[in-house]
Amino acid sequence: MAARDYVGAMKIAIASDHAALDLKAELREWLIEEGHEVADLGPDTTDSVDYPDYGYKLAGVVADGSVEFGVALCGSGLGISMAANRNPAVRCAMVSEPLSASFARSHNDANMIAMGARIIGPEMAKACIEAFLQTEFEGGRHQRRVDKLSNPS
Ligand code: RB5
Repeated sequence: MAARDYVGAMKIAIASDHAALDLKAELREWLIEEGHEVADLGPDTTDSVDYPDYGYKLAGVVADGSVEFGVALCGSGLGISMAANRNPAVRCAMVSEPLSASFARSHNDANMIAMGARIIGPEMAKACIEAFLQTEFEGGRHQRRVDKLSNPS
């Protein structure tokens, strides 16, 4: 898989629900330390919220090009990834380990990664994000398939 050096700042948005608030804070600070420009789309408190609201919000800024990548977090990673993927411009990969995160980029040109705070810890989440950001889309035969994802028929 092709790797890239992402030392330069990338624009990344991050959002969660209440179940992943602590993981969001830790990943946000780590991404900033890594040199990225990070937009935290919330929530800001532990009050119970609905993951679709944050998944849709995050999908919006990825779809309109305000950011290059989105990081979506909830308890399982499932609900917020389902919400984000309802936007046809979003390819959100729900992962729990770095190999899937790499394939999500190299084969699927994923523009969002989702993880579950009740499934993995912060170090595994960082390893997944690192693999995701460092892997280039391979294009070629994968491009046609990725294009079909935005045009279901
Ligand atoms: C919230 O309790 C939980 O349902 C949510 O974080 C997520 O796991 C849904 O997919």
